Amino acid sequence: MTHARQHTPYHPIQVIAHRGASDDAPEHTLAAYRKAIEDGADALECDVRLTADGHLVCVHDRRVNRTSNGRGAVSALELSALAALDFGSWKDREESPDWDPVPGELTSVLTLERLLELVVETRAAGRPLQLAIETKHPTRWAGQVEERLLHLLKRYELDTPPADGPSPVRIMSFSARSLHRIQAASPTLPTVYLMQFVSPRLRDGRLPAGARIAGPGLRIVRSNPGYIERLHRAGHRVHVWTVNEPEDVELCARLGVEAIITNRPKQVLSQLGHL
Ligand code: G3P
Ligand code: CA
Repeated sequence: MTHARQHTPYHPIQVIAHRGASDDAPEHTLAAYRKAIEDGADALECDVRLTADGHLVCVHDRRVNRTSNGRGAVSALELSALAALDFGSWKDREESPDWDPVPGELTSVLTLERLLELVVETRAAGRPLQLAIETKHPTRWAGQVEERLLHLLKRYELDTPPADGPSPVRIMSFSARSLHRIQAASPTLPTVYLMQFVSPRLRDGRLPAGARIAGPGLRIVRSNPGYIERLHRAGHRVHVWTVNEPEDVELCARLGVEAIITNRPKQVLSQLGHL
């Protein structure tokens, strides 16, 4: 029988906006994150990469070609070159009819620092917003990404949980080595091990050293719901990505997952009765 948890109003599924409200606004832009906050998301998700001059920026792909009007690898470009690009106008008006292209800061490259400022401002206004940061690998800057990330979190006092609540930030990665580095340097930061498929040695629900939360892709959940039960039995929380369709939200709720990562936070919150 499938292990299903009861979700009471005190333990709702957390809804995490994947790259911001990325169905409605261009991914990883301030516009997408502001929209996610307006929509009521519990947390924001972002990917981070290191520029050639050592800045962490929120970009998913290794290259900027898909999401900007520029070309080249993030790791080979300096922040000033990225800042001259437009990260907004690629967004398809047909798919997102409500998207109104806005020039300037709302659609320029987003530094992790600017996103941390937004999170800090929102929390200071009384909303317990959280941030899930994914380190992207492989990268020529492996090791330095984690170092720079921890340095920034410390500067914004986001590296330790407050006395009265959960950690405002958690780190996610498909790279167990990246999570291990984070855990070794900052043991109180929660870590999420992302999985596209289940490795045979982890089938029983174990996670690699350094990982505390499981992050299976939706394909795993659909094809192997029993694995979610094994993760729960092993004592792990489960955060599923990327869940956009109502039937998949329903499946995740039935399986008792702790968090849903979605491009459509408003729709998912509404389906779960959180709005
Ligand atoms: O939240 C996890 C998910 O974002 C991992 O996949 O490719 O969207 O970064 P990707
Ligand atoms: Ca991601």
